[in-house]
Amino acid sequence: MKHLITTADLTKKEILKLFEDAELFDDLKSSNLLEGKLIVTLFFENSTRTRSSFEIAAKRLGAQVVNLEVNTSSTKKGETVEDTVANLDAMKPDAIIIRHSDCGLPESLKSYVSCPILNAGDGKNAHPTQALLDLYTIYKHYNGKVKGKNIAIVGDIANSRVASSNLELLPRFGLNPILVSPKKFKVKTKFKSTTNLKKVLNKVDIIMSLRVQHERHDRAILPEKLEVQKKEYSKKYCITKKLLKNQKDIILMHPGPVNRNIDVSDDMIEDKRSKILEQVTNGVAIRMACLKKLLVD
Ligand code: CP
Repeated sequence: MKHLITTADLTKKEILKLFEDAELFDDLKSSNLLEGKLIVTLFFENSTRTRSSFEIAAKRLGAQVVNLEVNTSSTKKGETVEDTVANLDAMKPDAIIIRHSDCGLPESLKSYVSCPILNAGDGKNAHPTQALLDLYTIYKHYNGKVKGKNIAIVGDIANSRVASSNLELLPRFGLNPILVSPKKFKVKTKFKSTTNLKKVLNKVDIIMSLRVQHERHDRAILPEKLEVQKKEYSKKYCITKKLLKNQKDIILMHPGPVNRNIDVSDDMIEDKRSKILEQVTNGVAIRMACLKKLLVD
């Protein structure tokens, strides 16, 4: 059985086929491709984009969707995630979409189910559909000519599942990542990395800004200290119109949620070089293509 746990589960050929399907789904409002199928979503972490776009994708293809509200589920009475998933699987859904803070959990759940699992994000480990929609957005912008493009991934690299999935995926299509972050968010990597954003601006075609994942940091800090840290961070890493005044062809991406004026300035969010909402739009088509692949093909 097929699952989508990380981007490494897909070959390059399979990804290109997903993009072909996504293009067909771009303007498709409804279809009966998944008629009679039932999909369960199970989000142990908050989500706006991923959860709603999976649901919209499933419904546009004619599937029914059951969202288990974790806060009112029996996990609050001590049931393990494994038991929760096994019990949901016993009701014979056609797929389970899960987000959880534990790295590796979706992989370990494979043995508890008889339907495909789609990973909607596991801790800082992987967010495969996000990386696929990111690459799809880049791919569309450059009409498929993405080989050799340089992309600065800016922010909390160490704690970002978006970064880790993109670092697996983008180089397979010939993109060159440059990691830009304060020292404390650096990872050991084979890719170029720097703390100096300004230095790389004229070398990159794409900037992917990332949120600082405070919820994944080990130590809680006082709110007033956090505000100081955010200010310091934004001075060096916030993507502003002023910063990009000479980069007229650059494109700006962000997976969301954006911390305005910390990750990206208000004026840059509105700028025509920003792909942020286009990424969200593409997320529906990509997730439709992923559901088709796992439930139909
Ligand atoms: N990009 C992303 O995963 O957003 P959500 O957390 O809102 O799903």
